[in-house]
Amino acid sequence: FQEYDVCIAGAGLSGAVIAERYASQLNQSVVIIEKRNHIGGNCYDYIDEETGIRVSQYGAHLFHTDNSRVWKYVQLFSDWTKYEHEVVGVVNGKHVPIPVNIETVNTLFDLNITSTEEMDNWLSEEQVKYDHEPKNSEEMALSRVGRRLYELIFHPYTIKQWNKEPSELGPEVTARIPVRNNHDSRYFGDPFQALPTSGYTAIFDNLLCHPNIDVRLDTDYFKVRDTLRCKHTYFTGPIDTYFAHLGYKKLEYRSLDFERKVVRDTGERGTFQPKFVVNHPSAGTDFTRIVEYKHLLNQTSDHTILFVERSKDGGEPYYPVPNEENKALYRRYQGLAAKEDNVTFVGRLANYKYFNMDQAIINALELFEKDNGVLSQEKDPIA
Ligand code: FAD
Ligand code: NA
Repeated sequence: FQEYDVCIAGAGLSGAVIAERYASQLNQSVVIIEKRNHIGGNCYDYIDEETGIRVSQYGAHLFHTDNSRVWKYVQLFSDWTKYEHEVVGVVNGKHVPIPVNIETVNTLFDLNITSTEEMDNWLSEEQVKYDHEPKNSEEMALSRVGRRLYELIFHPYTIKQWNKEPSELGPEVTARIPVRNNHDSRYFGDPFQALPTSGYTAIFDNLLCHPNIDVRLDTDYFKVRDTLRCKHTYFTGPIDTYFAHLGYKKLEYRSLDFERKVVRDTGERGTFQPKFVVNHPSAGTDFTRIVEYKHLLNQTSDHTILFVERSKDGGEPYYPVPNEENKALYRRYQGLAAKEDNVTFVGRLANYKYFNMDQAIINALELFEKDNGVLSQEKDPIA
């Protein structure tokens, strides 16, 4: 047996933050076991060999938060370059801001709205009024944006994304989509929005470089757990894999396919599309968006690299499918998890919940404190 104070399954953000806290704050020994051949979980990025451009393996990642504690914490592990994400969508052949704002509706419907008040009035006339709370994603979208925007953007995009009618999905899917009554074209409203200057993977190198932390890649936790003696275990993989031996149904996930395309000889700064991310919500194409990493951090290359995204079932588990059946199934797994002694289930896969990076970080920090009854001090505290 190998003995550790803390064993962690998964070297994504949740596992890496917990490892860092135990090592730096409590001087405990930690092993972090990762089945992939790299650290970083879904935040992993690398330099594409052919173009020299840094790309993310599991989809575009934009860091944004309104949590100043998280913002301070991440300063300890990376320099950050301010970056306010903006997305355009191709709708009826036109490039329009996403989320929908004044310019979006002016362009699509040939209007001349100039003020927030006018936009509120326009929205209110478009919105479908119900005498009950919206009970699915169709009603939610219609109550927020009305039928025209729904049919142009939200309905076809939801079908591409989920392969389900919005009426089959819980209201929360379209409730999250922001609609702006002003000219703000930023994708996120958070006060802190930035990119790690040397990429995301470097953050994980810095989180995990403590001498108390052993990192084991290419290792499935379930294959090695009998060889470990751990005072406490943190499991950050899919909760249903932990209980797979019971033979319950698996939790459903939606996944993504990334088709890599290099456009050659664009010139040092030449790009293919106007923004880092261009959405394609319409039914006329089978992809949801195109991501062009050359837009980030002033990267230069003779070429540019694109990832054309399509949603699919199977493959890497990315987005929990929000319907009643899955929620009920998750609650069963959750009940089992609560009974596991000395094991904490943490992160997006163990909670069957989409977390942004900042939520994953604050959850991990708070769990560490709760499990240890301590208030940790970030090293080099920023007073
Ligand atoms: P993960 O990163 O998934 O890490 C879990 C790790 O556990 C994985 O490395 C996995 O291989 C490992 N594992 C699983 N099972 C085992 C096992 N049996 N043994 C060993 N290891 C195992 N957040 C943002 O804030 N902004 C964004 O723009 C953004 N974009 C995203 C885009 C996509 C497509 C996705 C899917 C997520 C995005 N996120 C974004 C969310 C972000 O990726 C998560 O917040 C973050 O990855 C959560 O970290 P985690 O450690 O909980 O999970
Ligand atoms: Na995302």
